[in-house]
Amino acid sequence: MASSDATVQVSSQAMRYALSVFEGIRLYRQHETTEVRPFLLDAHLRRLRDSLVLMRIPDPGVATLTDLVGELVTRNRITDDAYVRIAVSAGNPGLIGTDVEPLVTVSAVPMARKRWLAQGAGMRLQVSGWQRGGEESFPSAAKNISGYAGPRLALLAARDVGYDGCVLTNRAGRLCEAPTAALFLVRDGVLVTPSLTEGVLPSITRRWVLGTAPALGVRAEERPVSRSEAYLADEAFLCGTGIEFAPVQSFDGHVCRAWPEPGVLQGLVKRYFEDVRGAADGHDREGVT
Ligand SMILES: Cc1ncc(COP(=O)(O)O)c(C=O)c1O
Repeated sequence: MASSDATVQVSSQAMRYALSVFEGIRLYRQHETTEVRPFLLDAHLRRLRDSLVLMRIPDPGVATLTDLVGELVTRNRITDDAYVRIAVSAGNPGLIGTDVEPLVTVSAVPMARKRWLAQGAGMRLQVSGWQRGGEESFPSAAKNISGYAGPRLALLAARDVGYDGCVLTNRAGRLCEAPTAALFLVRDGVLVTPSLTEGVLPSITRRWVLGTAPALGVRAEERPVSRSEAYLADEAFLCGTGIEFAPVQSFDGHVCRAWPEPGVLQGLVKRYFEDVRGAADGHDREGVT
């Protein structure tokens, strides 16, 4: 059915208490074919299971979702890049604390490159005064919709004063991530990203970067990252399933030193599209130019 025809009860716990965990997964057209395949689906399903455990929502049968995504592709005759959203929501009515009956929804929309990657446009980011809630208030590894309410306000506030986006900090004032993407800095050829214990979502694209960088001859570190390091970065980028990769031009107006030539990012983007398209011969050279 069309996703606009799907309904959820207004008295559901999903609507009342923002109880809904989800995954965004990209489908990529395979090299020189019209066949599409989900990228790192198993990793997404594993994170979905983690979110369910952390949010105390019963498993609705995550093991069956691989087949469901396949069926979605077939039924919708998807032959090009797309984005699949899987959500497990508390679909039943109830008060806070009522047992949850999980409701699964799976939908797909066409999705090509965002302009950051398509045009090599650099994001001018604000280091936000809004904080990403830490483990003391909410499990940061749970990809639940409630986690986006604060970061949305941070994004709107950054846009109000002319930035393209923002990076949230944690209670210690260190950098975490963007509202819907992970953060990497590069200094002296070394990639750095905030550790998972800094209050960031365990991003699957972040994990891909950490796993791929050594093969490209780039050292990659996970550790706490200060605002000063962002101001002094040679290059920086955001990454995530939706945005894929977005080069960062500046933080609070401090322009990255290597801008507009983010060399480490270019190498990663090239390898990413080879991986997602199954093009080992490297013919798919999309992205940063
Ligand atoms: C808060 C947050 N951080 C990071 C990411 C990037 O995660 P992934 O690479 O798994 O898409 C996302 C995107 O889902 C996100 O919502």
